Amino acid sequence: MSERWSPAAWRSRPAKHVPTDYPDPAALERVEASLRVMPPLVFAGEARQLKTRLASVAQGKAFLLQGGDCAESFKEFHADNIRDTFRLLLQMAVVLTFAGGKPVVKVGRIAGQFAKPRSEPIETIDGVTLPSYRGDNINGQDFDPASRAPDPDRLLRAYAQSASTLNLLRAFASGGYADLYNVHRWTLGFVEGSPQGARYREVADKISETLDFMSAIGLTPERQPELHQVEFYTSHEALLLGFEEAMTRVDSTSGDWYDTSAHMLWIGERTRQLDGAHIEFMKGIKNPIGVKCGPTMEPEEMLRLIDALNPANEPGRLTLIGRFGAEKIAQRLPQLMAATVREGKNVVWSIDPMHGNTLKAANGYKTRPFDRILAEVKSFIEIAGAEGAHPGGVHLEMTGQNVTECLGGARALSEDELSARYHTHCDPRLNADQSLELAFLVAEKLKSARLAADIRQAS
Ligand code: PEP
Ligand code: CO
Repeated sequence: MSERWSPAAWRSRPAKHVPTDYPDPAALERVEASLRVMPPLVFAGEARQLKTRLASVAQGKAFLLQGGDCAESFKEFHADNIRDTFRLLLQMAVVLTFAGGKPVVKVGRIAGQFAKPRSEPIETIDGVTLPSYRGDNINGQDFDPASRAPDPDRLLRAYAQSASTLNLLRAFASGGYADLYNVHRWTLGFVEGSPQGARYREVADKISETLDFMSAIGLTPERQPELHQVEFYTSHEALLLGFEEAMTRVDSTSGDWYDTSAHMLWIGERTRQLDGAHIEFMKGIKNPIGVKCGPTMEPEEMLRLIDALNPANEPGRLTLIGRFGAEKIAQRLPQLMAATVREGKNVVWSIDPMHGNTLKAANGYKTRPFDRILAEVKSFIEIAGAEGAHPGGVHLEMTGQNVTECLGGARALSEDELSARYHTHCDPRLNADQSLELAFLVAEKLKSARLAADIRQAS
């Protein structure tokens, strides 16, 4: 990091997808100044702990499960929604740990995931053109000029919502809800009767039996803190740099800069220009960070990004999140993984099987077929095996709600059913059933990939 880096260093670089059309720039400055003195949402020590967990993922000793809404919203802010996403992630982690045999690092796309990069800056309906909706921390979704104007007060509301979301998550994680003795209680009502619900019950039964067995032989699981609480981390796309800058503080223990808006931040596919503002900002913060890698990423470009963002080659610092689409992954990912392996780059490789598999249904709904999501994850694990890299994690847009946004899955959701409960504020999410189904399939695939690797090693 250069001596001159400061949280505001990004301001001298071209910044894509950061709004510049606030009607009252002085009001924005006042809001940013007040955010600068608000309490941090996370501690630097927690971000460092996540980095050590991700270092295990980089070494193939753990698996990263990252997921949540595409975009959080003010309207859907409710304790039940937070709880349901949290418990679904717990269930998925149980499945992945039990069948996959590795600890699972749990990171929510939550408590700050508001701002969205949009492919079009403007939207035209019936001859009326207005700025696009850019996320609840910037403007409103309603199609009228007042809603679509960027409003700085939304940053304060997003901060407050993030703080109370995080507060509830911390309570759930350590206050008893996540106790492994409750493994049967995490199932969401509507999943109970589904095939995934039944499969989950089998796993939960085995875990309960194991806990009973441990007690019976005098191992007192009651006294193991790991069984009664979980580590849960937060993340979002670091898109709105004015907000991220205001949340960035010097950690008194290490003297380093940390963005205290979340434990982990990532850079999206549209803002990863080497000389751009987003990379400049990310260079200086010490949090674990991610970079989305889409179908246009070339190995040389990727290696330059890796050197810029992780010059010390520190494991756990950098997660590369592939998002190619089921049809393109086999042409694009192998050369990228081959390059990180060949150059000895300590990175986590994760897969976002959502953003490359979006399509418009005949009835106009933006959706994603479950088959393609699954196919991309499967290819990811196979390619990693062939290239000698670790298939480290998944990055999902998902919700604990019983929505109808992605096609297919065991319940074979059809195009006609999309309109029934299509609630997303941005991209279509997996519902709880589809998410659990994915977790089972990933666990099986990881297990067979590991067995194959063991056999290769033994022979
Ligand atoms: C996202 O994660 O919501 C997103 C916009 O992804 P990407 O940058 O990969 O398009
Ligand atoms: Co999205």
